[in-house]
Amino acid sequence: MSDIEPQAVEALLDAAFGSGRFGRTAYRIREGADAVPALSFALVEGGVLIGTIQCWPVAHRAADGAATPLVMVGPVAVRPDVQRGGHGRALMAHMLAAAETRADSALMMIGDPEYYGRFFAFTAEATGAWDLPGPFERRRLLARAVNGHALPTAAGTIGPR
Ligand SMILES: CC(C)(COP(=O)(O)OP(=O)(O)OC[C@H]1O[C@@H](n2cnc3c(N)ncnc32)[C@H](O)[C@@H]1OP(=O)(O)O)[C@@H](O)C(=O)NCCC(=O)NCCS
Repeated sequence: MSDIEPQAVEALLDAAFGSGRFGRTAYRIREGADAVPALSFALVEGGVLIGTIQCWPVAHRAADGAATPLVMVGPVAVRPDVQRGGHGRALMAHMLAAAETRADSALMMIGDPEYYGRFFAFTAEATGAWDLPGPFERRRLLARAVNGHALPTAAGTIGPR
C-alpha cells in the first residue's frame, strides 16, 4: 500500500460503506492498531485505486486473561461502480494466499457468510462464544484457521492486541 495515498483509501471506504462507517464495531475492535502490511493490499487500475483490503492485529481474551492473537480481515471494499466484477474475490484471494504463509495467527472478520463462506471458507462455527466491543449480528462473526494457526473456541472478547 506504500504507493497509495491514504486519502484515496479513505475516500474509497466512504464510497463503499458510507461516512457513518467509523461507528461500526469493527473500528472499535482494532482501535489504535496499524494495519498488517504483509496482508493489506490495494487494487489499482490505470493509476486509480479501485479496491482495498486491510488486515489488523487483534486478540481474543478469555475471562481468565488468556490472550490468543488473531488477524481481523477487513474492510474489503471495491469502488461501487465496478463492484461485482470479480475484484473483491481477487483481493480476498490475494490476501489469503499471503496469509497461508505469513499470517501470525488465525483470521476473523465481520461479514456476510453468503459471500465469505461461499468463496473463502469463513464460518461462524468457532465464534459462538465470542463477544465484541459493540453491537453485531452473531451470524456475521466469522473466522478461519490459516497457516497452522487454530481458532480459539472458548468464551472471550475480541479487541486490540
Ligand atoms: C463486498 C465486496 C467487497 C465484493 O466485491 P465485488 O468485487 O463487488 O464482488 P465480486 O465480483 O468479487 O463477487 C461477486 C459475487 O459475490 C456475490 N456477492 C457480492 N457481495 C455479496 C454479499 N454481500 N453477500 C452475498 N453475495 C455477495 C455476488 O452476488 C457475486 O456472485 P455471483 O458471481 O454468483 O453473481 C464489494 O461489493 C463492496 O465493496 N461492497 C461494499 C462494502 C462491503 O460491504 N464490504 C464487505 C464488508 S468488510
